[in-house]
Amino acid sequence: MRIKIIGTGSFVPEKALSNAALEQMVETSDAWIRERTGIGSRRITETGTTDMAVRAARRAMEMAGLSPGELDLIVVGTSTGDCLFPGTACEVQAALGAERAACFDLSAACSGFLFSLNTASVYLEAGTYRTALVVGADTLSKTVDWSDRGTCILFGDGAGAALLERTESGAEPEAGGRKSEDAGRENVDRPAAGERESRMGPFLMRADGGRGGVLRCQAAPLRNPFIKEENAGDFGYLSMNGQEVFRFAVKTVPEALEELLAKAGVPAEDIRYFVLHQANERIIASVAKRMRQPLSKFPMNLEHYGNTSGASIPILLDELNREGRLGRGDKLALAGFGAGLTWGATYLVW
Ligand code: UT7
Repeated sequence: MRIKIIGTGSFVPEKALSNAALEQMVETSDAWIRERTGIGSRRITETGTTDMAVRAARRAMEMAGLSPGELDLIVVGTSTGDCLFPGTACEVQAALGAERAACFDLSAACSGFLFSLNTASVYLEAGTYRTALVVGADTLSKTVDWSDRGTCILFGDGAGAALLERTESGAEPEAGGRKSEDAGRENVDRPAAGERESRMGPFLMRADGGRGGVLRCQAAPLRNPFIKEENAGDFGYLSMNGQEVFRFAVKTVPEALEELLAKAGVPAEDIRYFVLHQANERIIASVAKRMRQPLSKFPMNLEHYGNTSGASIPILLDELNREGRLGRGDKLALAGFGAGLTWGATYLVW
């Protein structure tokens, strides 16, 4: 039994907010933002998380050629849904008409897609469900204090999706959208036939709630007959200790990847791409250095989108897929990190 990705999709809003535009809003500069983060622009939604999630999901469904009625499970990794309830996954289900699907959201901030992917794969592995739609979608723009230059330059909105299917070993249909297995591939040895079977896992997921204060966004305050309105406090804005998050990321991500690859029994040299959460170019470069792997194995798109939180990994995965940069049998290591603190990694053979 294997779990494989049979379709990917993504969506980013049309409206772009460039570094030049931010220069007009806060005391910053294009040069500072590019040098410290690698970000040049970010997309901002005017329609919200559900709309972006649905658009990304539809693209993944189209690629896989799967009808909504065939969907067993929908998991949306988001911490910025349009509503507290219903969950975004239920809204996606309604928009797609996937009436049979079980639906829930998973809150793990920037690790949200990765944790959702791992969670869905366990349901498939257990035989509970055969197909799953996993979406990472976030609207960080509504949590950002647009007068705080320490955070407002970092984040953008977007959504990405992956469709998972459980297949019996050796009976795999060709994955959707894979027009040419080796199109655009750089110089890598093709894996032997036995190693080319698509599969997912192992994975790992970690959290350290004790350090949660370094990246936080307070939800609506308590409001009841025993609490006075004036004691309610501020809420709704993201606050971050950037340096602490930076230190956390450059330590935990390489450790998680090392542990993952040891578990998988795969040397780092065999990994075709490390698909990392797109938070900061310097974090990604540091991970590459610690892994002693060339930066060319660490694709990036944060220059255009900034940090899209739970959406960053599936957007990047979809771009790699649609550009024909993923060939059958390619070994990938995904890694995410974020508020919680949460972090994790997933191994998969494309
Ligand atoms: O998904 C996870 C989400 N979060 C992250 O991944 C964040 C990880 N952390 C980071 O990416 C970096 O810490 C930042 C990009 C947020 C900040 O970069 P830094 O190199 O850690 O800068 P810093 O906070 O140490 O600030 C250096 C200087 C300070 O000025 P002084 O005190 O040296 O005079 C800041 O006030 O840069 C100043 N500064 C800015 N200057 C121009 C901070 N933000 C800006 C800005 N433009 N936007």
